[in-house]
Amino acid sequence: MKLKRTHYIGELNNNFVGKEVIVSGWVLRRRDHGGVIFLDLRDRTGLLQIVFEEEIDPEIHSLADSIKIEYVISVEGKIRRRPPGMENFKIPTGEIELVAKNVEILNTSKIPPFFMDEDLSEVSEAIRLKYRYLEMRALDGLKPFIFRHQVKKTIREFLDNKGFIEIETPFLTKSTPEGARDYLVPSRLYPGKFYALPQSPQLFKQILMVAGLDKYYQIVKCFRDEDLRADRQPEFTQLDMEMAFIDESDIMNLVEELLVYLFEKTLGVTLEIPFLKLSYQDALKNYGTDRPDIRFDMKLKDLSHLFKDSSFKVFRSALDTGGVIKGIKASANFSRKDLDELTKYAQQLGAKGLAWIKYNKNAQSFEEKWSSPITKFFEKSLLEKLEELFNPVEEIATFFFVADKEEIANSVLGELRIYLAKKLGIVKENKFSFVWVTDFPLFEWDEDENRLVSVHHPFTHPKEEDISFLETEPLKVRSRAYDIILNGIEIGGGSIRIHKRELQEKILNLLNIPPEEAQEKFGFLLTALDYGAPPHGGIAFGLDRLIMIMLGKKSIREVIPFPKTQRAQCLLTGAPSEVKIEQILELHLLPGWNKKNKKK
Ligand code: AMO
Ligand code: AMP
Repeated sequence: MKLKRTHYIGELNNNFVGKEVIVSGWVLRRRDHGGVIFLDLRDRTGLLQIVFEEEIDPEIHSLADSIKIEYVISVEGKIRRRPPGMENFKIPTGEIELVAKNVEILNTSKIPPFFMDEDLSEVSEAIRLKYRYLEMRALDGLKPFIFRHQVKKTIREFLDNKGFIEIETPFLTKSTPEGARDYLVPSRLYPGKFYALPQSPQLFKQILMVAGLDKYYQIVKCFRDEDLRADRQPEFTQLDMEMAFIDESDIMNLVEELLVYLFEKTLGVTLEIPFLKLSYQDALKNYGTDRPDIRFDMKLKDLSHLFKDSSFKVFRSALDTGGVIKGIKASANFSRKDLDELTKYAQQLGAKGLAWIKYNKNAQSFEEKWSSPITKFFEKSLLEKLEELFNPVEEIATFFFVADKEEIANSVLGELRIYLAKKLGIVKENKFSFVWVTDFPLFEWDEDENRLVSVHHPFTHPKEEDISFLETEPLKVRSRAYDIILNGIEIGGGSIRIHKRELQEKILNLLNIPPEEAQEKFGFLLTALDYGAPPHGGIAFGLDRLIMIMLGKKSIREVIPFPKTQRAQCLLTGAPSEVKIEQILELHLLPGWNKKNKKK
């Protein structure tokens, strides 16, 4: 390298006119105007127009002739103002250009698989992931990752000031039950034994509290072999925290303060605290989900009592079999085609059907005011009560109803609420709405396994006042867990933990984990609880999800430098890939066969 860079392109501006600089980077575009060649050069900070003029320097001009798109070059020259009319006021370096005096070609490039100065969202994700480094090199391509760096730096700065210590915990470890399948790593030294990659550092952070650490955090990879979605990856990053001698409110306050600091510093957005708190029960009742999106209202209402005497067979039979009738109101008119589509959508979500009533406040006749094939089943007074329940009802509205088991009515209307809000454009896209969900049940019933399972994880503390009915009515016991939801996405969750062995053993027992298995899986934790475990609790954030929402992206893949596809493949490296038979034998994965490929 003969030419040594003196400046990043992003540092240059009109003040540099007349100065000599050396810049290095990649050629985004080239334009050949006969005697003058223009190259747009970019580095990670910006874009600069370079001019090669035959009249000034024929040698350099002819060298520039050989420079193609994506070549890596260094250029030395003088900054000058662009001629009037040639400016591009959209970019910071748009009023200047560099007149090349010296150029060094550091490397050539094949023609890239996509045009790098186009909107890359048009390019298929498979191609973008295979050539991830080119996608990153594109203009602003590194922005999400630089932002990610700033987020991590700001979090560390905040927690450091609060006295938190970042501690690394192992990746080759034992299974931590967070509800997903483990990634296993076979042990070479211990035939037939496996390490598990951690689904979270849960048990280690609890052990650190027993060790007296008091305030722990870690920005850490977690591994979960589960079905992927836009907000799930097999390896993802948590901001993991744990504290001793605290209760729920200490953790919630600290988290709110952290988020205020983070949003202010990285986005310049001021968050209002305290965030809304909703009980799990209220979240389900009003929003149909424990991940409520509260950027818009449109709450669900239980209308069972209203319809209890109506003759509409569909509603009747739901009520007679212990179900409910719930409804929502959308302030809009829908065509028959729309309503048919919405009904289909509700059916895909598990509803038997979707009943609807169109409302027009100013209509002359009753039939026009309440138009639906089902209004004939209802008294006028019933519909007036419906109007009252949903007060205020705008001039035009549509009511939707699902009659079913409460669980189904909630989940279908919860989804429909979001679908309708998006369709009607009432979601404020640039708003950040946080909500805490608390008072979760400690257990739920798993039909497939025919046993209680933890709603969070087995180390979650039950509410003190509910401990007495752990054995008699376990499904009624609430936990000291809390989730934090941002714009309808769960970005974090945590709890106060069990710090006494006896209670921990009781919970494992209720989860139908026999003492021997409990000892084998969590013996080290149970033992640690015997040696002065302090009261403690914590939380973990899905950092990828948080950053995705902060940047307004649709998938966490856009904020993870090297993500896996929906099918858990890394298209850049080709992982997962086959390995040599020798490696398989060395890991004892084919019992009875030894390394020489012979039977033992
Ligand atoms: P939990 O399992 O709720 O809690 O995980 C915490 C947060 O991590 C994020 N998350 C994910 N993000 C991307 N891809 C995934 N596959 C994925 N799975 C989870 C979510 C979630 O809220 N140890 C406990 C925390 C605690 O109790 O302190 C835990 O891991 O945003
Ligand atoms: P049916 O009597 O089955 O033709 O249904 C009459 C109307 O009620 C149709 O619009 C159905 O989509 C709707 N419907 C059917 N089952 C349900 C249900 N469980 N909840 C709400 N609406 C339903």
